[in-house]
Amino acid sequence: MTRDIFIDLYHGKDDSASTQKDKKIQPLLPSSPLAETGMWSMRDNGRQSVPPINRFHPSHLFCLRPHTAPPTATINHPQHSSFLKCASSRTQAPSWDRRAMAEAGEWLPYVSTLAPCLLGFALYFYAPYWGVRGVPGPPALPIVGHLPLLALHGPDVFGALAKKYGPIFRFHLGRQPLVIVADPELCKEVGVRQFKSVPNRSLPSPIAGSDLHQKGLFFTRDERWSAMRNTIISLYQPSHLAGLIPTMQRCIERAADTIQLNGNVDIDFSDLALKLATDVIGQAAFGVDFALSAPREHGGREAEEFMAEHVHSTTSLKMDLSASLSIVLGLVAPALQGPARGLLRRLPGTADRRIARTNDRLRARVEEIVASRERDLDKRRGQRDFLSALLNARDSGGDKMRELLTPEYVGALTYEHLLAGSATTSFTLSSAVYLVSGHPEVEAKLLAEVDRSGAAPPTADDLQRNFPYLDRVIKEATRFYTVSPLIARETSRRVEVGGHALPKGTWLWLAPGVLARDAAQFPEPGEFRPERFEAGCEEERRRHPYAHVPFGLGPRACVGQRFALQEVKLAMFHLYRRYVFRRSPRMESPPEFQFGIVLGFKHGVKLRAIERRSPA
Ligand code: HEM
Repeated sequence: MTRDIFIDLYHGKDDSASTQKDKKIQPLLPSSPLAETGMWSMRDNGRQSVPPINRFHPSHLFCLRPHTAPPTATINHPQHSSFLKCASSRTQAPSWDRRAMAEAGEWLPYVSTLAPCLLGFALYFYAPYWGVRGVPGPPALPIVGHLPLLALHGPDVFGALAKKYGPIFRFHLGRQPLVIVADPELCKEVGVRQFKSVPNRSLPSPIAGSDLHQKGLFFTRDERWSAMRNTIISLYQPSHLAGLIPTMQRCIERAADTIQLNGNVDIDFSDLALKLATDVIGQAAFGVDFALSAPREHGGREAEEFMAEHVHSTTSLKMDLSASLSIVLGLVAPALQGPARGLLRRLPGTADRRIARTNDRLRARVEEIVASRERDLDKRRGQRDFLSALLNARDSGGDKMRELLTPEYVGALTYEHLLAGSATTSFTLSSAVYLVSGHPEVEAKLLAEVDRSGAAPPTADDLQRNFPYLDRVIKEATRFYTVSPLIARETSRRVEVGGHALPKGTWLWLAPGVLARDAAQFPEPGEFRPERFEAGCEEERRRHPYAHVPFGLGPRACVGQRFALQEVKLAMFHLYRRYVFRRSPRMESPPEFQFGIVLGFKHGVKLRAIERRSPA
């Protein structure tokens, strides 16, 4: 437990009552030379005096160690009226000598300046921890917290911690403690019942400072969020989604054609899926055809550049020690992140400069698209894309709407669709196809369902009603590889969750990735078995209704859920009518993942497509 790790200014054995009372989070002086110089003193009991010895090094002033061996000696300093107890009995030297006193005097100004700074640093560092210290969790390293654990094990670490510490535990993302909730009933408590106390998302360090990312729905807060969400939800009526089927189908068929061209060689399916999802969302969000998944000659250079920038911007949003320096600083000392970013973005060759430039270019492109759509009033009246619909809603919504949807927010909301809708959807499609490729019995049932549906391409209604097995395959794929293993939330007032009182401002994160691997909810969780989602089956009936929440829960759940499911189902339908897929010998097993804002396949998904001889 982090509770094990204390910073003690002093503790003594010859004054046990008061010493015990004073065992708090305080700077530690474990038999350090500083202690021995007697420059820090806590008591005015005037008992013993010891000479200042050894050299002082600032690192001695502040170190972390478990609360263990009690100190034994007391030190007096002539210029102070008080005494310091320290940990070493060897400090019981007989008397002062003048030289030593003079030396100590020389150091005094430095130490008296440094000590309050370090104390302030300690307080700054441990302040967020203090409010949640009662929540169990593993010991945290100073400064980096549990980031090394995350780097080593990826999101699997949360499952291991839940086993050890229970359904609610602490995890330190650098300086910032997260309280992680890994139980379906508690997730419901946080996401639904106590929504009014936990209505917003915490702002992770990769997002801090990026307007483009912050002004979307994901990170806006309170009234602005609910006003924006209500506007957006009204644009996602089923009729609107149904109207997007032809556009989705065109993109999917075009992507499927490129598979045919590739013949029997390896395809990087996750790359193709990302291009496809970006094309679909590009049309749906901006009304722009990026044509990324089209055969090479159709895709424009500009679109490729946009895509490269978008991918670079997205993959830079990491939450670990491999991120840019300013993001890492944001994790360990958020107060330094802003100034550091300002400095680093001016230094050639830094990751921060590259990210800043990419984000600037992306923002400029998005602003350009928004501005041109603003101007082209007639064109946008007839268009179905999100941007046009949002601008139309703003124009017909009066002054309040104009205040709410300034060009900056419109741009951020539209770009957010690209961000939220491409990596997530493509990961879901890639994992479903990858998992089916290794399970012939699942593939056989899926092909039978696809072939049974007849020659006509399915409508939105067909997709919802007539593909129950496809539905289960996708549900099981989202359980097996949960694209958002953590869902960020933050308390806006004091709340009690799972018996722990959590102060305002606590980062309270839900862990759908842990729920998805809980054997009590999903027996044999390591098996890919779509049948576990069969409506009314024993396993389904026993399962907690909030055990499977890949799209989140409560009023803040994913707005794009139906859009994404429609797209993934339609893509699988068209792909499996023409092909089956086999894993390439070059595909590692099990696959490795990278954890940015969402999960991704580290080395892609390498598959071989086999054309089906007689599709129905
Ligand atoms: C398989 C694909 C997708 C998955 C697994 C997914 C997952 C999620 C999750 C877990 C959340 C957080 C929910 C919560 O806090 O309770 C979320 C939020 C969100 N998603 Fe998705 N998403 C997907 C596709 C999409 C698409 C296609 C769009 C846009 C068209 C989208 C837009 C959003 C937005 C705007 C939010 C923020 C909602 C809010 O704060 O009110 N997502 N998504």
